[in-house]
Amino acid sequence: MTFDLVIRGGTVVTGTDTVRADVAVRDGRIAAIGTGLEGTRKLDAGGLLVLPGGVDTHCHIEQLQEGGGADEESWSSGSTACLAGGTTSVVTFSTQFKGHGILEPLAEYRRRAAKAMVDYSFHQIITDASDEVIWQEIPEVVASGVRSLKVFLTYDPLHLDDRAYIRVLAAARRAGAIVTVHCENYEAINWRTEALLKAGRTAPMYHAWSRPKMIEREATHRAIALAEMVDQPIQIFHVSCAEVAAEVAAAQARGLKVWGETCPQYFVLTAGHMDRPGFEGAKFMCSPAPRTEADQALLWQEIRRGTLDVVSSDHSGWCFDGTRGKKVNGADANFRDIPNGVPGLMARLPIIFSEGVSKGRIDLNTFVRITATNPAKLFGLYPRKGSIAPGFDADMVLWDPNKRTTLTNDHMQHVIDYTPYEGLEVTGWPVATVRRGEVVMRDGKVQAPEGSGQFLARGPYDMIRPRGVLPDGFDAAEFA
Ligand code: URP
Ligand code: ZN
Ligand code: ZN
Repeated sequence: MTFDLVIRGGTVVTGTDTVRADVAVRDGRIAAIGTGLEGTRKLDAGGLLVLPGGVDTHCHIEQLQEGGGADEESWSSGSTACLAGGTTSVVTFSTQFKGHGILEPLAEYRRRAAKAMVDYSFHQIITDASDEVIWQEIPEVVASGVRSLKVFLTYDPLHLDDRAYIRVLAAARRAGAIVTVHCENYEAINWRTEALLKAGRTAPMYHAWSRPKMIEREATHRAIALAEMVDQPIQIFHVSCAEVAAEVAAAQARGLKVWGETCPQYFVLTAGHMDRPGFEGAKFMCSPAPRTEADQALLWQEIRRGTLDVVSSDHSGWCFDGTRGKKVNGADANFRDIPNGVPGLMARLPIIFSEGVSKGRIDLNTFVRITATNPAKLFGLYPRKGSIAPGFDADMVLWDPNKRTTLTNDHMQHVIDYTPYEGLEVTGWPVATVRRGEVVMRDGKVQAPEGSGQFLARGPYDMIRPRGVLPDGFDAAEFA
């Protein structure tokens, strides 16, 4: 029996197993794993690891801006960066503007994403929990395959108060969607920010001072307690430190469906990076803020324990120079007026492999789980994405575990004019990326037709089914 493509002689790694084997592909799917397989095309993986294509379930690509326009990172440049770094599927965002619905923007996101070269889905951001959105539009959006809602407990003008957050949790429960939550205390940040600005402490480093760990911990605790009341599964986004992870662990220990995500920036950046001279610190500003080296070490422990089981990029699509990105309010803007977020679509896998596997902090299978298998499972992309097994889409990355590289912005292949990881030395590098059986990247050269990415409609799945455990057995979500 011959196949369309055989990847020969590599070491195949999944979330559970590591075996020397060939992988055979037919019609864009994995058809067989074994030895001596023959195909019309061959890809030599001798000396390389064969990993599932990366699944990045938190990244901002071509996100619409209030008042018009979108992120500088387009679907075309963002897809190129993903494929260069070994990521073949993303879940990005469709946003809502206060006073407006969610159907029109989602249609616009679908139209723009028709240029993608990675496979993609969306989280629907809810910023205005109006009756119409809650009762009519969320069910429609979820039924169309957008099976996750995203809420912010901070940020003007995105943040939801507790009542609105509860209404979104209840709507998700009724519709069968997971809710992802940005956890920081809105009022506390505003209070400290006002004080810092009055005290003349305006430089980028004071971004970290405006949002210390306990305000992330408090919001995480509250987000979990309210989700427990509604009996609604949630994922806590971008956990920055162990004391926040402890809230997730405590919820998991009580049997709640609460998951925790973290990002590469929390393993290699610290608040100290924002203290660089001039405006340079703005390159490292994201929320929650990067913490300390001691926090980084403790975060690895939470990965090993499984408390945090997804590492995504939280890629932000804004440049440093120019008039739209970090300097939109001028090159001397105070920290409150500098857009948050750091780019990282390409860098995610090399950083986590290098800091994790190459430095002996996690094993290969854990690396695959946190970067591909677990995000695919949690967001309803499994068993199509996230592993190497017969029937899965043939999304793979051939990985040289020994190649040493010093990261520069040229490696990133995004449209952004900087990387916060400039000069970081990594061991382990993507050599080729295969998406649905097509070789779309080789030695850093991305070749995929625009529009060859597919929308991933996500149907109902067991993992995010509510537990059926409610205070007094009363399901308030049926009524409000
Ligand atoms: O600073 C960050 N994380 N920016 C991106 C938006 C978000 O909060 O996820
Ligand atoms: Zn966030
Ligand atoms: Zn984000």
